[in-house]
Amino acid sequence: MTRNLLLFAILLMGGCRQPSAQPGTTPNPTPVTSTLRSVASFPVGAAINPSLLTGKPLYRQTLETEFSSITSENHLKMRQVHPEKDRYDWSGGNTIVDFANQTGKRMHGHALVWHQSVPDWVTQFKGDSLAWENLLRDHITTVVKQYKGKIASWDVVNEAFLDDGTLRPTLWLQNLGPGYMARSFQYARQADPAVKLFYNEYGQEYSAKKLAAVLAMVADFRKRNIPIDGVGLQMHTNIDHPDAQIENAIRQTAATGLLVHISELDVRVNQAKTANFSPTDALWQRQKAKYQAIATAYRTIVPPAQQHGITTWNVSDADSWIPSFCQCNDFPLPFDKDFKKKAAYDGFLTGLKP
Ligand code: G3I
Repeated sequence: MTRNLLLFAILLMGGCRQPSAQPGTTPNPTPVTSTLRSVASFPVGAAINPSLLTGKPLYRQTLETEFSSITSENHLKMRQVHPEKDRYDWSGGNTIVDFANQTGKRMHGHALVWHQSVPDWVTQFKGDSLAWENLLRDHITTVVKQYKGKIASWDVVNEAFLDDGTLRPTLWLQNLGPGYMARSFQYARQADPAVKLFYNEYGQEYSAKKLAAVLAMVADFRKRNIPIDGVGLQMHTNIDHPDAQIENAIRQTAATGLLVHISELDVRVNQAKTANFSPTDALWQRQKAKYQAIATAYRTIVPPAQQHGITTWNVSDADSWIPSFCQCNDFPLPFDKDFKKKAAYDGFLTGLKP
């Protein structure tokens, strides 16, 4: 059979057909879109609000698709979870924790001991130091035990230092002395031997004195065998803040050997709180560069075993705490008010990619 005849025969029998699809793969596999959680080698989270979880489908969908860790923005704080001396309100916390557990996401609790979001019965509490100690211990023990096995890590003490590195004169310090911080960690450990315990703070990237105070506390705790597993850098920052200062705070915190969590990331573009502010593409590109720089610094500086992850504070520009706080326009997150990916998202994604 001549060569041409053979060729004709092959064509006749259906020629250069695509090799048949591998069993189980779709013939034209839809391209796997990268997501924040799919590209990262550590948890990527967001702080959430239960009412939006149940009320906004796009909010929930973005969380399910993009994030692998969840933090409670407000509903596990003392004011919301323990509104009266003898009454706890688990409703908001349960909605968030159940969502995280049901979607296989890590749950981070925030915050057991803080000077803000304190219920009136505590700010008006009249008692001696023993009564205050019982109040602190009972609150921590009850809340940590309530979510034992459901919450993987807690911000035990939040924002106990001022920017000058001295202890913040909170009602906890005034009624219990500086030892309240160490005892809070001990009570949390007694309530749940497995949960990771964090000290959480803001400003380590702009205040060398505050950074030093946090690191000195960690060193003291470790010397005294006070149970602490990690440090949170909130990182409420902006497009102008020098990368070198952010890298320095991450590097020095990682040098403690503890878990490191960028716990409340957002990057403001309207640092000057200009009224009727509308960002230019140049500002979007600078925000993109900042998200990329922070994610890259975290990924390359923090040893993998210490990478507790990066959490944004809120999900989209629509639910960010900043506009109501600054009474100004701002757009600090990777998703816009319609949950569309911004240039910042691309920067974050690129920075997260190993
Ligand atoms: O729940 C009440 C509601 O009943 C009332 O009608 C409404 C009007 O006053 O207030 C609601 O409480 C608000 C609460 O958020 C829940 O939305 C408080 O006023 C408001 O002050 C509180 O703001 C939160 C703030 O912490 C204080 O707890 C922000 O949403 C939250 O994003 C912010 O988060 C903090 C972190 O915990 C710690 N680091 C800084 C970060 C930003 O400030």
